[in-house]
Amino acid sequence: MKEQILKNTNAKLLDEFNASVMFDKELYDQDIRGSIAHSTMLRDQGIITSKDHEEIELGLLQVKAEIESGEFIFKIEHEDIHMAVESRLTEIIGEAGKRLHTARSRNDQVASDFRLYVKEKNISIMEQVKILVNTFVDLASKHTETLIPGMTHLQHAQPINFGYHMLAYANMFKRDYERFESSYKRNDVSALGSAALAGTPHNIDRFKTSDLLGFSKPTSCALDTVSDRDFALEILFNISTAMMHISRISEELILWSSYEFQFLRMSDEYATTSSIMPQKKNPDVPELLRGKTGRVYGNLISLFTVMKGLPLAYNKDTQEDKEGVFDSVKTIEISLSILSEVIKTMIVNVDNMENACKVGHLSATDLADYLVTKENMPFRTAYYITKDVVKKANELNKDMSELNLEEIRSSNDEIKNISEEIVMYLDLRASMNARTSFGGTSTKQTKVQIDEFKKWLI
Ligand code: ARG
Repeated sequence: MKEQILKNTNAKLLDEFNASVMFDKELYDQDIRGSIAHSTMLRDQGIITSKDHEEIELGLLQVKAEIESGEFIFKIEHEDIHMAVESRLTEIIGEAGKRLHTARSRNDQVASDFRLYVKEKNISIMEQVKILVNTFVDLASKHTETLIPGMTHLQHAQPINFGYHMLAYANMFKRDYERFESSYKRNDVSALGSAALAGTPHNIDRFKTSDLLGFSKPTSCALDTVSDRDFALEILFNISTAMMHISRISEELILWSSYEFQFLRMSDEYATTSSIMPQKKNPDVPELLRGKTGRVYGNLISLFTVMKGLPLAYNKDTQEDKEGVFDSVKTIEISLSILSEVIKTMIVNVDNMENACKVGHLSATDLADYLVTKENMPFRTAYYITKDVVKKANELNKDMSELNLEEIRSSNDEIKNISEEIVMYLDLRASMNARTSFGGTSTKQTKVQIDEFKKWLI
């Protein structure tokens, strides 16, 4: 008796351990579409009768309706979504249901379902990324003249405009878009018909199922197809890179909304209060965006690790490929839409940004550049003279951009006769606008870049 109970408990545990249905039910729609395509092809090839196909198709649509209405009962014993759908189908239509799995294996079935899922997610994520790029470009076009300290090492470096800073992010997310697009194109191939690992003796038409499912063509090697999860790794990597960018802008939003910066204020909707300190407004949303990047990296590394030692072809280890992808997809979807809203609704404090430029001698490089261009000095000499001017400004407790001609001239003997136009060159806005090189920060160049983005966004 005791032994029997133990055996039953073990069997139940084993079923639970083995099953994936509780998470791969996410693929029900892809599974049913894949099965309908497969059945249509079997009929067209004369492998099953039209009557069988009709019953299969109607039955599958009923299963789909049952799942969508919440009526369908998922059971661990079904192991995975593929078995769950097939066994319910057979319950509903009887014998014909048993013919569906002709010339197919769960190995190509799961590869096919998962590829469809990833393919469709590539597209929907691309759309969301584009919306985010648009949000950054919109904000950029409002701030091509707003000065903000450009930093390196988180230290004031050179004045740039805030629009230009936003464009840097637009560029990152545009590359992300292109990465999803390139993965989409590479992985737009149908796995169905690869069967267990080596193809099938049945006279199937893989081009037909590929067309029916909207893929560009079938994969070329069955053995590779049932073993391969590169497409899943690619989306995990692309999501990780996009989340890294989301995390970097989030970090800046957190810094910029701090008391020390006060460059912007996050809309009340996206900031929360403290449970103990009534005066506080916490940037929980960007903090979470930054934090969630960790789990997404984890999902990528997990799947890399799962895949690294697998002999060809299918191994059950591969069942571990899905949860991480589902999780990363959900994470990026919510993160992209939330970030877009945060950016749209935040209040930019132009005065504080511009005032911050008045500390740290942001136009120092402009003096050095002036001496090189107008006085034909070697850059290193100009660098040391500029250092003296910085020293002078510090002594006078002024920013370099605020020095008058006399103060500049008296900083170093070599510039005691420097032209009065230098004062204008040290002006912060002039400094920003002087950077007219291709890809530079001048308002003019920034507008050129915005125009390029607008063309891309159409
Ligand atoms: N649930 C399995 C997975 O997700 C489906 C493939 C199972 N194939 C097999 N031969 N056990 O990987």
